[in-house]
Amino acid sequence: MRKDKGKRRWVKSYLRKHFHILGCTVVLSFSLGYFWSMSNDTCQDTPSKIIEALRKIYSRPQILKPLRPDVLVMTPWFVPIVWEGTYNLEILNEQFQQRNITVGLTVFAIKKYVVFLKTFLETAEMYFMVGHKVNYYIFTDRPQEVPKVELKEGRNVVVLQVQNYSRWQEISMRRMEMINHFSQKQFINEVDYLVCVDVDMRFNDLVGVEILSNLFGTLHPGFYGSERRSFTYERRPASQAYVPHDEGDFYYAAAFFGGTVKEVYKLTKKCHEAIMVDKDNGIEAIWQEESHLNKYFVYHKPTKILSPEYLWDDSLGRPQILRKRRFLAVPKDHDAIKNK
Ligand code: GAL
Ligand code: MN
Repeated sequence: MRKDKGKRRWVKSYLRKHFHILGCTVVLSFSLGYFWSMSNDTCQDTPSKIIEALRKIYSRPQILKPLRPDVLVMTPWFVPIVWEGTYNLEILNEQFQQRNITVGLTVFAIKKYVVFLKTFLETAEMYFMVGHKVNYYIFTDRPQEVPKVELKEGRNVVVLQVQNYSRWQEISMRRMEMINHFSQKQFINEVDYLVCVDVDMRFNDLVGVEILSNLFGTLHPGFYGSERRSFTYERRPASQAYVPHDEGDFYYAAAFFGGTVKEVYKLTKKCHEAIMVDKDNGIEAIWQEESHLNKYFVYHKPTKILSPEYLWDDSLGRPQILRKRRFLAVPKDHDAIKNK
């Protein structure tokens, strides 16, 4: 009898002491269940309860760092952050080959940016989605200046003639509109995934199917180790891209994002519409479409995140954390290129 009471007391005090652990476990199980169901097929808007919980638990995301103490490999909403050593490419290649997927790689070579195409395409042939079918979608106002590059089997260049704009900021932002338009008109019938990148870049190491997921974003090389408050989100409430100081998980780069055609369609639609509302209100977000992309990702959490291995600029040095530099900025003379 006395023993029984003692036991009960012990259980009570145990529960009291470890209440927070139990609470966390329950919350974790629910969110795991939610994200597991999401990762299976479609992505939904992230429920406001989860966004609310996330904004409270950290100023800087830290949840799983099993590789090395400085390498975050899982987000607080349980999706992978892709670094060298976190995946098995052989197994993934087999899975994606069985699905017989085609990947669309979109780039914009407007005005003088056509000068970047040759290196971009040649290095993509060496490193991008090796062994898979690829369509390079080249948006340009100068179709005659698209270089002829020798392509491996199953890979095509598709030139899409589009208009240009006088300001580079406008050219940059209109990418959302153009990707959106062609997603519905063409990409949906031709490819499974879209990868949308900057053209003033070169591939320097493998970028393969490990990046593919319903909706993925890339950590901006300048902010992957920063705290939330130093992210360069749009901070003016008058803009549609506004993100308050206590929200947001990462600062993502507009130079590398993607997902299924359906998800990229949804993302680009929302961003383009927000850009147009800003235009009507006479405001332009601080980092143009990148600000809108970041806003989108606060409320539609990506299902996979790419580490800065996938978007690097050697002017930032070569930190130890980077075991691979897969996709590198090509140095450019801004004045000579940007508005020309
Ligand atoms: C810079 C980059 C810009 C923009 C900005 C965000 O390094 O050149 O394109 O991404 O960071 O703060
Ligand atoms: Mn760029």
